[in-house]
Amino acid sequence: MRITWLGHAAFHIQAAGQDILIDPFWTGNPKYPQGYEDRLTKVDTIVLTHGHEDHLGDTVRLAKKFGATVVAQYEICMFVNGQGVERLEPMNTGGCIKREGVRYCMVPAFHSSAVIRDGTPVTMGDPAGFVIEAEGTAVYHAGDTCVFSDMALIQRIYRPKVGLIPVGDRFTMGPETAALACNEFLDLEVIVPIHWGTFDLLHGDPHEFARRVRRGRVEILEPGQSLEV
Ligand code: NI
Ligand code: MN
Repeated sequence: MRITWLGHAAFHIQAAGQDILIDPFWTGNPKYPQGYEDRLTKVDTIVLTHGHEDHLGDTVRLAKKFGATVVAQYEICMFVNGQGVERLEPMNTGGCIKREGVRYCMVPAFHSSAVIRDGTPVTMGDPAGFVIEAEGTAVYHAGDTCVFSDMALIQRIYRPKVGLIPVGDRFTMGPETAALACNEFLDLEVIVPIHWGTFDLLHGDPHEFARRVRRGRVEILEPGQSLEV
């Protein structure tokens, strides 16, 4: 499995012959590695953790361009369907689906999930994390969330080996609480800090996070950099 960070919470995962994008916030993301899209020959699936613009991002455009299937909370699927995306896998918290040799499980996250239209929030259902498993390796994308002790239950049930963990603070966990999540509740071999450094508002420092983690190996990636697991 190859995991490439595209800045913020965005990833490209390649496994079991599938090309999977997570939270493809590319346009307007100062950490997106420019030109990355030109290197893609296909996108099979787009996974969304929640409906905020810094996660929904380029989903509608990319789903149409590549004919990709959107895997997300039911309300998000209906929202993108209204914008012309036809291939959908609606889910809700606690559910798993399997498609083309990859298993997608939607797990809880504590956050909000809405888009603002004409100054009014439009609900996008509950926010989520995902555990994506292929070829015997499971990756936990925590989405935007605080720490919660039921992360231990996610670890127990889905046995992720890799964690994509927000550390930027303000809207999600910061370095201290993200390290608590990894040290006390999760049992990850490899941890990639995400949702940091994109904007000045995100002041959480991934190096402080790395210093605090005692359980698992922290890999601070550059945007566009890949990890083989
Ligand atoms: Ni958010
Ligand atoms: Mn976010």
